[in-house]
Amino acid sequence: MRKPIIAGNWKMYKTAAEAKQFVEEVKGLAPDASKVDSVICAPALYLQQLVASTESSALQIGAQTMHEEKEGAFTGEVSPVQLKDLGVNYVIIGHSERRQYFNETDQSVNKKVVAAFEHGLTPIMCVGETLEQRESGETGSVVEAQVEAGLAGLSEQQASELVIAYEPIWAIGTGKTATAEDANEVCGIIRKKVASLFNEETAQNIRIQYGGSVKPANIEELMGMEHIDGALVGGASLETDSFVKLLEAGS
Ligand code: G3P
Repeated sequence: MRKPIIAGNWKMYKTAAEAKQFVEEVKGLAPDASKVDSVICAPALYLQQLVASTESSALQIGAQTMHEEKEGAFTGEVSPVQLKDLGVNYVIIGHSERRQYFNETDQSVNKKVVAAFEHGLTPIMCVGETLEQRESGETGSVVEAQVEAGLAGLSEQQASELVIAYEPIWAIGTGKTATAEDANEVCGIIRKKVASLFNEETAQNIRIQYGGSVKPANIEELMGMEHIDGALVGGASLETDSFVKLLEAGS
């Protein structure tokens, strides 16, 4: 059985004091780590402090992006080695905002996924279609192409450990959630694609999250779906009450 994974993506929100207070409040309330992986992906600035304050709690800390090189002259970037050194476990790769505003492509996403594994981080790789692509019936082919490119060169073991977040772009921060059935259908397409690229066992192991306006009111229905193993949550991960409810629904 796949262990659910609920991850908050704080994006560019919170001051250091707010981040600290949130984690202090939530860490004791996170469900047992044997039931659900509970993750906060915080701004890079706060990772060190948050890793230290969640030590020996069930709450884990992730980053929101990283560079694919282990070091170098890349002003402003953060490397996988630096994240690992801080004790970070997860890293979101290829979020649609990174693809849209920072020119990330399937190829750069693939390099980052490979580099994350190389340095002992678990990538949460994001895929998803635009509204235009959905309306023209391209959702399946768009998502399959993103999965195929993103997983290139991974071993079966790495692909099994990867987390894929299916985030339809039109559902991010808009209050529009894909119906649980639609989300499940696309997560099923992703799983099938993984089976064709690797094998059925790998496809059964890989965890697939849904993301896009997930909140306490809709998480249970989403989590009840066959192919949805968790959620990647923006807005509703910023408040302690709603985030704890999401963690409980995941466990
Ligand atoms: O990565 C999570 C995200 O993009 C979804 O954001 O605010 O719709 O939950 P939100």
